[in-house]
Amino acid sequence: MTTAEEVPNYPFKQEEALRPPAELERLRGDCPISRVRLASGDEALLVTRYDDVRALLADPRFTRRLTAPDAARLSASETPSLFNRGGAMAQLMQGGGHLRWRRMMGRTFTAKRVNAMRPRVEELAHSLVGDMLAGGQPADLNAALGFPLPVFVICELLGVPADARDRFAHWSDAMLNLNRYTEDELITAGFEFHEFMAAHVQLKRAHPGDDLLSELTTVADAEDGRLSEEELIGTGIGLLVAGHETTANMIGKMMAMLLAERRHWERLVADRTLIPTAVEESLRVDPNQGIGLPRYISEDIEVAGRKIPAGSTVLNSMAAANRDAEAFTDPDEMVLDRRPNPHLTFGVGLHACLGQALARVELQSALTVLTERVPTLALAVPPESLRRKEGLIVGGLRELPVQW
Ligand code: HEM
Repeated sequence: MTTAEEVPNYPFKQEEALRPPAELERLRGDCPISRVRLASGDEALLVTRYDDVRALLADPRFTRRLTAPDAARLSASETPSLFNRGGAMAQLMQGGGHLRWRRMMGRTFTAKRVNAMRPRVEELAHSLVGDMLAGGQPADLNAALGFPLPVFVICELLGVPADARDRFAHWSDAMLNLNRYTEDELITAGFEFHEFMAAHVQLKRAHPGDDLLSELTTVADAEDGRLSEEELIGTGIGLLVAGHETTANMIGKMMAMLLAERRHWERLVADRTLIPTAVEESLRVDPNQGIGLPRYISEDIEVAGRKIPAGSTVLNSMAAANRDAEAFTDPDEMVLDRRPNPHLTFGVGLHACLGQALARVELQSALTVLTERVPTLALAVPPESLRRKEGLIVGGLRELPVQW
């Protein structure tokens, strides 16, 4: 039995931005379900093997009820983050309310809608890359493309004006806070974001367009009824946060990994049919996938021969699971044509990423445009000097200096 002092602090220290902490690999081998201490001081169990993470995410007894009184607090702050909010948002995010919400989203956020967005996403990427090239080198690819592209895309999806994008960036960072913001900043950000989205939902009711939010105000059937005002606001906020920060960071991380080993980039430029599998492989090997997916269990249970007591919070580390040699050959190697590639980066089960088709369109469009417009693209700094963002649930790079 480990004593309280021996429980390591989590997230682990990561010396290099493009290399996962060695501790993850060690635990996956020696202690695949392991106690860790969070920024709040609370303890959780960290799950690191592919089969366990997959099974646990697919098991509905592990819920997202992080509001339970004995659940671990992920963040040091009292103000709830995306994962432990109460109210309409919490109702939508678990149990029967969640199933109803997913059904309604399934009817509106369709593959057809996403596919129809591809030409527009590529057009936006072209325009952003054009601006970057015109601005001269070196440039920060995160600021030039990674961050603006997903905000423009999600704003078009929701029918929300993109001119407020600096405020979105701040509000969604606050919702993904681990220890970066003060209590006052978090409360103000939550309030402002709610006000902003409430005004937009009202506008969409009065003047519906062909965007997702407008359609959600009208979609209804006998079984599910309509989404209430608060549910619509929660959905708008949830989509903006979930669809923006993750993809924005991923564009930068994907490009950093491809450029850090130049043979990958050159292979992609020479053979652009590899773009879809290269995107999947980048999602798999991403060493900065945040803290993992949190789940709460209200009954005693056994996983992989280890007892998990009722009231435990578990963190499912996709970064560890995706490099498990039991699931992938040469797991630390980036293989651009890897197939099949059943990575867990979009989660599994009832909560699996609702926006994964759109995320794929955005990541593929970024590569399509960059390979075409800037085949000579290169990192402007040694990969070892890239710095990670700290203190948020989602992981990413602070900046990505490039030249061409
Ligand atoms: C590279 C980009 C992305 C990554 C890595 C990612 C990852 C994830 C993961 C791991 C989950 C599961 C959370 C859990 O099980 O607790 C999730 C859920 C979700 N994602 Fe994504 N996501 C991305 C992009 C997007 C986009 C573009 C959208 C929307 C436009 C989106 C919307 C959502 C929503 C609404 C959920 C909640 C689903 C539910 O609880 O039923 N995501 N995402």
